[in-house]
Amino acid sequence: MSQIPVAKPVLDEQEVEAVRRVILSGWVTQGPEVAAFEREFAEFVGASHACAVSNCTTALHLALLAVGVAAGDEVITVSHSFIATANAIRYCNATPVFVDIEATGFNIDPDLIEAAITPQTKAIICVHQLGMPCDLSRIVAIAERHAIPVIEDAACATGSEILWKGRWEKIGKPHGDIACFSFHPRKVVTTGDGGMLTTANPEYDRNFRLWRQHSMSVTDSVRHGSKQVIYESYPEVGFNYRMTDMQAAVGREQLKRLPEIVTKRRAIAAAYTRALDAVEGMRTPVEPDWARSNWQSYCTTLPDHLDQQEFMQSLLDRSISTRRGIMNSHLEPAYSAESSHRVSGDLENSVNAQNRTVILPLFVQMTNAELDEVVDAIAGSLAPSAPVIAKAG
Ligand SMILES: Cc1ncc(COP(=O)(O)O)c(C=O)c1O
Repeated sequence: MSQIPVAKPVLDEQEVEAVRRVILSGWVTQGPEVAAFEREFAEFVGASHACAVSNCTTALHLALLAVGVAAGDEVITVSHSFIATANAIRYCNATPVFVDIEATGFNIDPDLIEAAITPQTKAIICVHQLGMPCDLSRIVAIAERHAIPVIEDAACATGSEILWKGRWEKIGKPHGDIACFSFHPRKVVTTGDGGMLTTANPEYDRNFRLWRQHSMSVTDSVRHGSKQVIYESYPEVGFNYRMTDMQAAVGREQLKRLPEIVTKRRAIAAAYTRALDAVEGMRTPVEPDWARSNWQSYCTTLPDHLDQQEFMQSLLDRSISTRRGIMNSHLEPAYSAESSHRVSGDLENSVNAQNRTVILPLFVQMTNAELDEVVDAIAGSLAPSAPVIAKAG
């Protein structure tokens, strides 16, 4: 029996051809393809500026530097996220301040933000976890009251939408000050590895472009195209956070596919919800009426009587891969030192979400038969007295 994976990127000859074109052009690192990908991504999300970088972790690092986060500052965020969110704060020698997620979802609870603010608070990073938009209108309103910039960790949210002042808009416009995206293969579109920063602030964008290339005053492409000899300078310490032109060429093909990818993912998520809502005690993910997820992942909360690991093993025994729910950074050894972070309130919902949820297979190529197989396997893992649940497809 072949394995049903938890995720699978959509890559074929289109992407192969794009990389081939770049390789044969002779210009393979950050150049014309990166510039074109940035223009197309900005247009897609409705942003005035988009800057491509090597991944979302480096995007978060540059975003924090751009809003002035430095040693000794505090940044409010969630522990319940991939560790990159908190690590980027620590790259700035600042302290992540963890607040809990909502009881009904996997995003930061806006009601808890104000109590976490101190004179040291320099930014808020909210995460659109698993592609589900967080409650930006409430988060941005709180941040504006306290003059604190909002960085959206939109790693998972390419193609997700939010109802903003009566209009549906793409995540990344951005609605906070800066949004950071990931193109890792577990995301809905991929460049192998890769990231993007979007902002409406030209000064931030200018800094991203400098810092991603060691703060070099003149880019390679400008020097290459110049008829006069130019010497570059390095006014400050920057980084090598560049995306290559090969990655960008793949990204441009992926962007063309994105609407179809999101439509298909939404259909699979809806089918899961129809089937799993029939299981007593199962809590399926909630999409608020002001949000449209891209369903980067489908994460369901198990009935109380099911053990997470046993449930996952029973599916794996039937060749179905799953993943436990999102991790909590504060529970990892890298965060064991008291000085590594601060917790505001308690993180009960975050810990419950890690221990009681499971991410199910969801990929564009998934057939109805595979979907039914997953649903059947879930039915099989329930107690014998539990009702057999409806087919998903
Ligand atoms: C919420 C979140 N933030 C940040 C990242 C880091 O992204 P990247 O792997 O592109 O650095 C990820 C990646 O999984 C993520 O899920």
